Amino acid sequence: AVQELESQFDATIARDQRIEPRDWMPEGYRKTLVRQIAQHAHSEIIGMQPEGEWITRAPSLRRKSILFAKVQDEAGHGLYLYSAAETLGIDRAELTQRLLEGRQKYSSIFNYPTPSFADVGVIGWFVDGAAICNQVPLCRSSYGPYARAMVRICKEESFHQRQGYELLLTMMRGTREQREMVQDAVDRWWWASLMMFGPPDDDSPNSAQSMAWKIKRHSNDELRQRFVDMTVPQAAKLGVTLPDPELRWNEERGHHDYGTPDYSELKRVISGDGPCNAERMERRRAAHEEGAWVREAASAHAAKQAARARA
Ligand code: 3HC
Repeated sequence: AVQELESQFDATIARDQRIEPRDWMPEGYRKTLVRQIAQHAHSEIIGMQPEGEWITRAPSLRRKSILFAKVQDEAGHGLYLYSAAETLGIDRAELTQRLLEGRQKYSSIFNYPTPSFADVGVIGWFVDGAAICNQVPLCRSSYGPYARAMVRICKEESFHQRQGYELLLTMMRGTREQREMVQDAVDRWWWASLMMFGPPDDDSPNSAQSMAWKIKRHSNDELRQRFVDMTVPQAAKLGVTLPDPELRWNEERGHHDYGTPDYSELKRVISGDGPCNAERMERRRAAHEEGAWVREAASAHAAKQAARARA
C-alpha cells in the first residue's frame, strides 16, 4: 500500500503537479518543508527589525509611510508562511518556540546593522531584490500552500525592491555626503546579500533532495548568479560601484564572473556569531513575551464567539 502511495507521490512530482495537505507525502518531504517554510517565516518576522529602527527617524512623511507599509508587509509575509507551515500539521507557537530556542534559523542577512538611512534603500534594492530571485521560482514549488503563499509575497516584494532603488536614486541626486552614504551602504551589504542564497552548491546538504522533490527549482549558485547579473546594470545606472574587483562580464558564459563570498562568515553568522544576532533574538523574545496578553485575549474572544455560535 505504501509503495502505491509512494509511486503516486512520485508521479505527481514528475508531472510538475502540486502536493496538497491532504495528499500522502514521505515523512522527509514534510520535515524539510516545515524546516524551510518555518525558517522563511522567521526571516520575514526578524527582518522587520533592521528597517523598523528607521520608521521613527525617516527623513520625510513620505519615506516614513513607505517604510511603514513595507515593514507591515514583512509581518504579513511571516503570517502567510506560518499558515502554510501549519498545513503540515505543526503549530506556529511550536515554530516560534524552536526559533527562540535556537533550534530553527532565520536568514543571515538580518544580522547586520543599519547605521544610516541609505541602508533602508540598499536593503530594498539588494535584500528584497535577492528575495525576488529566490522566491519567484518558489511560486512553482511542488507543495501547494507554499507556492501559493509565494505568489502574493512576490507581488509585494517587487514594491519593496522598487521603493529601495528609488530612495537611492533620490539620494544619488543629493549632496556629496548623501552619495557617500549610499556607496558606504552598498559596500557593507553587497557580500552579505550574496550569502543570502546559501552556501555554494558543493556545500549545500539539502539541495539535492529539495531539487529532486521540486521544492527548490534552482541551485543556490544559479540564483546567486541571476542576482549578480540583474544587479550589475542597476548599480551602473545608480552610479555606485559594487565592492568586487573580480566582477566582470564574461561573454562566452553570458554571465558576470564575480569573486567568492566569504562562506566562513556565512557559517559564523548562521551559527549565531554575527554582528546583531543577540540583539535580534533578544528583541524577538521580548516581543513574544509582551505580546502574550494579545494572544490570550484573541483566543478568549474566539472561544466566546464559538460558544455564542453554538448557543
Ligand atoms: N541564512 C541562514 N541559514 C542559511 C542560509 C542563510 N542565508 N543559507 C543556508 N542556510 C542554512 C540552511 O537552512 C541549512 O540549514 P538547516 O538544514 O538547519 O535548515 C544549511 O544552511 C545548509 O544550506 P542548504 O543550502 O543545504 O539549505 P537549503 O536547501 O534550505 O537552502 C535557502 C537555503 C536557499 C535559504 C532555502 O532554505 C530557501 O530558499 N529558503 C526560502 C527562502 C528564504 O528563506 N529566504 C529568506 C531570505 S529573507 C526574505 O526572503 C525576506 C524578504 O522580505 C527580504
